[in-house]
Amino acid sequence: MADEIPTRKWVFMVTAQTATNIAVIKYWGKRDETLILPINDSISVTLDPAHLCTTTTVAVSPSFEKDRMWLNGKEISLSGDRYQNCLREIRSCASDVEDEKKGIKITKKDWEKLYLHIDSHNNFPTAAGLASSAAGFACLGLFRQPSALGSRSRSMGLRRDTCCFGFNTVNQVFALAKLMNVKEDQGKLSAIARQGSGSACRSLYGGFVKWNMGKAEDGSDSIAVQLADEKHWDDLVIVIAVVSSRQKETSSTTGMHESVETSMLIQHRAEEVVPERIIQMEEAIKNHDFLSFARLTCADSNQFHAVCLDTCPPIFYMNDTSHRQAFASLFFYAHLDCGIVIINCVEKWNRSEGTPQLATGSSHCRRLLFFLSHILHSRSVESGAV
Ligand code: DP6
Repeated sequence: MADEIPTRKWVFMVTAQTATNIAVIKYWGKRDETLILPINDSISVTLDPAHLCTTTTVAVSPSFEKDRMWLNGKEISLSGDRYQNCLREIRSCASDVEDEKKGIKITKKDWEKLYLHIDSHNNFPTAAGLASSAAGFACLGLFRQPSALGSRSRSMGLRRDTCCFGFNTVNQVFALAKLMNVKEDQGKLSAIARQGSGSACRSLYGGFVKWNMGKAEDGSDSIAVQLADEKHWDDLVIVIAVVSSRQKETSSTTGMHESVETSMLIQHRAEEVVPERIIQMEEAIKNHDFLSFARLTCADSNQFHAVCLDTCPPIFYMNDTSHRQAFASLFFYAHLDCGIVIINCVEKWNRSEGTPQLATGSSHCRRLLFFLSHILHSRSVESGAV
């Protein structure tokens, strides 16, 4: 393989970290499953990478005999179209790389012949609904400073559903772009990450991010844009309670495919509801209008779950616990010590001014937006996530 590449054995590697994102207006449904083009725009908040992130190390060496990938220490197959598309695209954007000290020189052409090893670790349960593929795929190759990624707004959240899959994607694209000295702009990288997992394209930016569905057949305008950076709404705090590490039963890819095929509600949502909601959400974010932000987020989440129920066979992303009692352990962050009915409380808290009586009292907790995981399982909050 590496005829023209120096035979001396070396390994060149880069590590990158990206944060997950949580959709407040959700992406659900594709119009093109190969290019991963959505049927509606979506908006998300990128979380602080200090709390929920994927770390990916990508390495290249003439001694590698094939592309390989590990997720949380376990090797996974790279044979799927999504990985192959991402790798092909990112290789096509690679530039020369030279490290004089180590005597490494890799030309643009070399990248076509050299194999890669990709090692991703999530600090939260993979495929339990916390955007694991999104962050991961983004790390495959974009050159940005980790500090520029993810929210710096101390965002933490309790979610009512676990709807930001695709987190690994963004992290992997990010790392590979860095390794390969990719000079393309964020838009292009977001389009590459999108082909790994749709929601991944939003994790290339911190703060508030919109994924424009785009119109072009080749997907060139289906990219993420930053609406506001991570400093914009500094007192918005999102608490995430991961209360089960079990993998969800229906993947988002399968779920949205089935919704598009069978749900009567999904088209109405995409065409009649989401466009207006996107405008309102952008306004709410711009004006720091928490009540509208929370109302729209909850309404959109509820409609997403309604579409899932309207799917044949129905998809249940929330379980009994989501509707029932949760316990004190969920709220240790807020130092609360009583059981609550999760959804009712979320609705109530989100509507009340100066929300968190239950907060720690610090100013940044003035406003809490609670999202609860759809996989809520009482009593067991994973400490790493909250
Ligand atoms: C409910 O991005 O995981 O979290 O594009 O098939 O990989 P694929 O799906 P994915 O779907 C995420 C769906 C969602 C909503 C959202 O994050 O916008």
